[in-house]
Amino acid sequence: MPHLAYVNGHYAPHQMASLSIEDRATQFSDGVYEVCLYLNGHGVDFTAHMDRLDRSLAALSIPAPMGRRALALVMDRLLIRNRLRTASLYLQISRGVAPRDHAFPKPAPAPSLIMTAKRFDCDALKRQQAKGIAVISTPDLRWKRCDIKSVSLLGNVLAKQAARQKGAGEGWMVDADGLITEGASSSAFIIDQAGCLRIRTLAADILPSITRRAVLDIAAQQKITIDHRAFSLDEAKSAKEAFIASTTAGVTPVISLDDQMIGHGQPGPITKAIISRHWDHMQAFFDQPARAPSASRMAQRPAR
Ligand code: PDD
Repeated sequence: MPHLAYVNGHYAPHQMASLSIEDRATQFSDGVYEVCLYLNGHGVDFTAHMDRLDRSLAALSIPAPMGRRALALVMDRLLIRNRLRTASLYLQISRGVAPRDHAFPKPAPAPSLIMTAKRFDCDALKRQQAKGIAVISTPDLRWKRCDIKSVSLLGNVLAKQAARQKGAGEGWMVDADGLITEGASSSAFIIDQAGCLRIRTLAADILPSITRRAVLDIAAQQKITIDHRAFSLDEAKSAKEAFIASTTAGVTPVISLDDQMIGHGQPGPITKAIISRHWDHMQAFFDQPARAPSASRMAQRPAR
C-alpha cells in the first residue's frame, strides 16, 4: 500500500503529493510544523502540541487553516488511511501560495496544510535507549526565534550533518557564551557534578519541547533537584550523566560528547530511571482501548 499524504484537503500517494512552487514554505521557509507521536491510535500530549502550533502560527501571523477539532480529525483520518496506529505524524502549515515577494502577501492567501505519517518503532527506540548515543558539539548558527517551531531549519540541518559525519547521533549547539542551547532536533540535559538535573531556561533561543516538560514532571515526581541553568560544554563533558529528549527520540542517554566519555560511558542510573518513568507515561496510551483514533480520546495535558 503506498504511503498517503494529506495536502490541502486531499489524500494522495507521496509521489503524487506536492506543493506549489510558489508556496512560501519552499521560497521563504515561511511556515511552521509539528511532529506528533501516536501510540495505539492515541496522540501523546496532543493538547500541548496543538498549543505550541497555535503559538508558532500566532508568532508569524499565519491563520490556522482549520479549527483544532477538525485538524485532529484530519490527523486521525491520515493514520487510518495509512493503516497506522503507532506512528509519528508530521504536520506543516505555511502562509500559502503567492507570487514571490518577501513581505506578507496582500490579500493573504489561504494557508497550506500538509501532513505525512510513518510507522514508529518502539522497539528500535528501546534498543537505542539501551545503548545510548554519541553527541558532538557544534556552533549554534540559528536565528534568534528558535522558540517558534519554524520550518526554517538550516542551522539544525548543519548541526545534524556535522554529527552524522562524525558518526554521532546528535549535535549539541553551543552559543556565543560557550553554553549549550539544545540539540539539532532534541533538548539537551545533564546530571551535573552536584547530581542536579541541569536544563536551560525556556527563552527565544530554544524550542519549548513537549518531551522536556514530561521529563521535568518525572524529575519532580522522582525528587530529582532541577537546576534551570544553562551549562557549558566543559560542564557537559564532566557531567555525571547526559541525555536528549524529543517526541521521536523519547529520552535517550548520551554516552560521549566530542569523543569524551560521559560518566562511565554508559547510560547512567538517573537517566535510566527517567526513561523507565517516561515509558510508563507512554504505556498509558497503549493501555487505552485500541479503537479507531478520535480527537476526543486524545490525551489532554494541561497547558503550562
Ligand atoms: N524535533 N529542540 C529542537 C530544535 C527540536 O527540533 C525538537 C523536536 C526538540 C524536542 O521537542 P519535542 O519534545 O516537542 O519533540 C527540541 C522534532 C522531533 C523534529 O524536528 O523532528
